[in-house]
Amino acid sequence: MIKRILTGDRPTGQLHLGHYVGSLQNRVKLQHEYDTYVLIADVQALTDNFEHPEMLEANIFEVALDYLAVGIDPEKTKIVVQSMVPELAELTIYFMNLVTVATLERNPTVKEEIKQRNFVKGVPVGFWSYPISQAADITIFKADLVPVGEDQLPMIEQAREIVRRFNRLYAKVLIEPKAMLGAMARLPGTDGGAKMSKSLGNCIYLGDSPETVRKRVMSMFTDPKRIHPTDPGTVEGNPVFTYHDVFNPDKGEVEELKERYRKGTVGDVEVKQRLYDALNHFLTPIRERRAEYAANPKRVYEIIMEGTRRGRELARATMEEVRTAMKIGYRFG
Ligand code: TRP
Repeated sequence: MIKRILTGDRPTGQLHLGHYVGSLQNRVKLQHEYDTYVLIADVQALTDNFEHPEMLEANIFEVALDYLAVGIDPEKTKIVVQSMVPELAELTIYFMNLVTVATLERNPTVKEEIKQRNFVKGVPVGFWSYPISQAADITIFKADLVPVGEDQLPMIEQAREIVRRFNRLYAKVLIEPKAMLGAMARLPGTDGGAKMSKSLGNCIYLGDSPETVRKRVMSMFTDPKRIHPTDPGTVEGNPVFTYHDVFNPDKGEVEELKERYRKGTVGDVEVKQRLYDALNHFLTPIRERRAEYAANPKRVYEIIMEGTRRGRELARATMEEVRTAMKIGYRFG
C-alpha cells in the first residue's frame, strides 16, 4: 500500500528559505512516491493570533501560493485548510484524555515559543496544548511520514505517544508516524542567529524581489572578526557560506571561495555577490510561478477547496473508526 505524508504550516505570513530546506523541498520530492497532504494550520495559527484573526484569510492564500510556487503539484498533493476539517477539533478533544499536564509542560519547542511570545495575560490553554491538536492533524490522515524542521520533533514524539496509548487502550486504529528532517535541519538566519524566523526579522522569503534579496544578502552577518578583505576569515558557522553550501549548485566555485576566504584573498562583498547570484537563480522560477498563480486566484481557491474536500473525506472515515474503537459510535434508533 502506498504510504502517506502529512505536514503543515501556520498561515502567519509568507514562507521563507528556512521552510524550503526544512520541509518544502522534501514534500516536492516525495509527492510522487507518497500520498501527500499538506495542512494550512489556521486553527494552530489562531492559538497565538486570536486577537488578530483577520490576518488568517490572506495568509492562507499566501501559503498556498508558496506551495504551488516551489513545485507542490496539485494533481499529487492535497492542500487542506485545517479549520474546514472540524473532525480535527473532535479528535483533539478525545486526545486530551491521553496526555498529562506534565508532558505538555516539558515540550521544549512550546517552552521556547512561550518565552519568545511573552503572553502578557498568561499562556492561553489553546497555545500551550497545541501539540495535542497537532497530533490530531497527523493521525487523522493516518500519516506514516511527517517532513518537518528540527523544532517540530517534540510534536511528532507527542503524536507517537498518543498513538501508542490510543491503540493500546481502544483498538489498533491509528498509525505511529515518523519524522523526516530536511537536507539541513535548521537554516540560520541572515543575522547569523540559530534559525530563520519571521519574528526575528532575519528571513529571505520565497516571494522576495531580486532587490530585496540583494539587500538581505549584502547585509548578512559574516565573520565578525574579519575587518579587511585581506584578513584570513572563518568559513565554519559563517551563514554566508552555509547558504552557499545549500543554494549554490556550483560546488567548485564554493570551494574556491572558501579557500580564498580562509587565506584572505577575497572580500565579503564578492562572496555575497556570488551568493546573491546563486539565490536569485534558485528563486527566479519560484517567483515566476508564484506570480502566475497570484494572477489567477480563482484557480488557487479551486485547488485549496478540492484538497480540503479530499482531506475531509479521509478525516471523516478515520473518525468513524475512532468512535467505534472508543465505543462511542452509538447507533441509537
Ligand atoms: N507546528 C507546525 C509549525 O509551526 C505547523 C503544523 C501544524 C504541522 N500541524 C502540523 C506540521 C502537522 C507538521 C504536521 O510549523
